[in-house]
Amino acid sequence: MNPFKYGTIVSGKNFCGRKTLLKQVMGYIESSQHIVILGERRVGKSSAVNEAVLKCKVGRLLYVDLLGIKSIDALCRRILRAIVVLEQKTGWFDKIIKTLSYLRPSISVDPITSMPTVSFDASVEMKANSILEILTLIESLSKKRRLVVVFDEFQDILSLEDSHEALALLRSKIQFQSDIPYIFIGSVWHKMDEIFTHHDSPFFKSAIPLMVDPLPYKEFSRFLKKKFITGQRKIDDEVLEKVFKIANNIPGDIQQLCEALWEVTSEKEIISPDKLKNALELIFAREQKSYENYVSLLTNIQLRCLMAIAKQGGKSVFSISFMKSAGFNNPSSVRRAITRLIKLSILFESGGEYKFINPFFRAWLPYKG
Ligand SMILES: Nc1ncnc2c1ncn2[C@@H]1O[C@H](COP(=O)(O)OP(=O)(O)OP(=O)(O)O)[C@@H](O)[C@H]1O
Ligand SMILES: [Mg+2]
Repeated sequence: MNPFKYGTIVSGKNFCGRKTLLKQVMGYIESSQHIVILGERRVGKSSAVNEAVLKCKVGRLLYVDLLGIKSIDALCRRILRAIVVLEQKTGWFDKIIKTLSYLRPSISVDPITSMPTVSFDASVEMKANSILEILTLIESLSKKRRLVVVFDEFQDILSLEDSHEALALLRSKIQFQSDIPYIFIGSVWHKMDEIFTHHDSPFFKSAIPLMVDPLPYKEFSRFLKKKFITGQRKIDDEVLEKVFKIANNIPGDIQQLCEALWEVTSEKEIISPDKLKNALELIFAREQKSYENYVSLLTNIQLRCLMAIAKQGGKSVFSISFMKSAGFNNPSSVRRAITRLIKLSILFESGGEYKFINPFFRAWLPYKG
């Protein structure tokens, strides 16, 4: 069985390293300090928090994913769903259901996946006030058995029309819940910054920030080599270093490429560098539709700019040599193209450099020509 996991939270024996970070997070959980976890996409933020909560055994994890929420109603439903799933097997369950009876909660088990599914009456629209009620419910549940509350993809709260009001309400309650550790996770740097460091934001300086960096090569490569050995495959540093480079050192992307490398090799094989090509082709084949979709959204100018970044990197996009090779004659058209590419979530900016969110899309562009 392929031992590489990507796109999901990893824990236990699938979780590598991060000793210092785990210790820090565990310490903050124990002292009920609110923290904000920041880091690039797929670097391992959710896994690190999940692992820390499991390890420190001082509270139950109430995990709320805010990815893609568009309204206060959706925010409330997400939190309530997490509460219902968490409390399903506890003695307070009936009480919660009673409290929420106006929403007609119904729980069932999906016959195919065996996962619990929770639904509420769609005709009731929850408004701002419900946020306060829900936080009070969290408080009373936590008094019975302590909760650790995690809001993942917290930056998406900014997509709400009334995001300022939602944040103000959350903050007004959370700041007095000093026995409950709240953990806010986010990956879109400028949005998290807007929430936690702008002085007119309700969440200004309300949580201690912690950065999740890529795993160090030495530690992560040892972990990956062991996984290859379980399938009687051998991989050496020459190939692994290339894997890290192609994947921009991002753990999730490294594991994705290792998963593909495993698929294109067989037992007793020593994995040679030329297998990388086959592994990438496998990934391209799986992801081609979405790459083509992205390309179809771009104008010629934007595509030229993207291609130049794929080939030359995104460090000095306003230099004469970059503009010349990409066919631009003024920096403002480069800027316009890049703004659009960021808006489409193809590129992101980090430390003055423009990078691809998906490193395999970067590899595919010049390959396709
Ligand atoms: N500590 C780790 N050990 C091994 N693999 C890891 C570790 N952390 C992350 N990964 C790899 O990265 C993938 C993504 O991890 P995770 O979902 O925790 O990251 P994230 O930063 O929350 O990502 P997203 O931005 O998509 O929310 C995992 O499926 C796994 O392949
Ligand atoms: Mg995550």
